[in-house]
Amino acid sequence: MHVFGHISDLQGFLSAQNKIIGFVPTMGALHTGHVSLIKEAKAQSGLVVCSIFVNPTQFNDKKDLERYPRTFEADAALLREAGCDVLFAPSVEEMYPEVDTRKFDFGFLDRTLDGAFRPGHFNGVAQIVSKLFEAVKPHKAFFGQKDYQQVLVVKELVKQLKMQVEIIPCPILRDPDGLAMSSRNVLLTKEEREQAAAIPKLMQEAKAMFNGRNAAEVKKHVENRIASIPLFKPDYFEIRNAEDLSEFDPAKDRQAIALIAVFCGRIRLIDNLLLQ
Ligand code: PAF
Repeated sequence: MHVFGHISDLQGFLSAQNKIIGFVPTMGALHTGHVSLIKEAKAQSGLVVCSIFVNPTQFNDKKDLERYPRTFEADAALLREAGCDVLFAPSVEEMYPEVDTRKFDFGFLDRTLDGAFRPGHFNGVAQIVSKLFEAVKPHKAFFGQKDYQQVLVVKELVKQLKMQVEIIPCPILRDPDGLAMSSRNVLLTKEEREQAAAIPKLMQEAKAMFNGRNAAEVKKHVENRIASIPLFKPDYFEIRNAEDLSEFDPAKDRQAIALIAVFCGRIRLIDNLLLQ
C-alpha cells in the first residue's frame, strides 16, 4: 500500500496509473464497516484509494473533535490487509492551507435532522469532500448508509459542483446485537454500550409497527421507549420520505425511512432503517 501525505505526491502517483479509481473517504478509527467499503470499492474499481482525515470543519462541538478516536497505525494495518492500494493521510495544513470560507446551500437537507442539530456540520462535510474529490479525482466514491443524510448531501454537492464522480451508497454493517458499526462506539463505556443495543431494537420495533399511515403513532411509541432508557438523551426520531427526507406523505411517497440520533451518555449515535 502506498501512503501519501501531500496532494502533489498523490496526484503524481495516480496520474500514471490509468485505472478506474474507487475512493473511500474516512476519518480513521476504522472498523469492519469501513473494510466492507474497501471491499466494495475493490470489486468495482481498478485501484482503491482510502483517505484518513479528521476534518475539523465538520465538528460543531470542539470536545467531540478532541475525543474523536485516532488510531493511525491500526488503521493502516487494517487497510493493508483489506487490499487497499493507496492511503492518503494529509495534515490539516495540507487540506486547509487557508481558511475555507465557502458556504454551500443544500436547502431543506441542511436544515433538518442532523442539519438542524449540528449546525455547520454538512457545510464542513461538503468542504472536505469537495477538496478530497479534487485531490483524488475518483471515478466512484463509496459511502456508508449509516450516514444516510450525508449521502444525500454529497450527491447534491456533486450535482452542484458538476463533478464527474459516481456516489455509491453501501449498506450499514452491524455488531451481532444489531448496533450499527461506528468509529464512536469505542468511546462508549461498558454500560453505555449495553444500553446502546436498544437503538437497533427500537428501529426494528418501528418497522414492525409501521403500516404506511401511522408515522405519528410510531414516533410517539419510540419516543416513549427512548425516554425510558436511563442513559439516552434524544436529538430526534423521525419517519421521513427516504428520497429527500421531507415529511413522509403516504399518498405520494414510495419509501419511508426511520432515522434516529440519540446521546448515549456523552456519545452521540445515529442509525436509520428503511421501513417498507
Ligand atoms: O463519514 C465520514 O467519515 C466523514 O464525514 C467524511 C465523509 C470522511 C468527511 O470527513
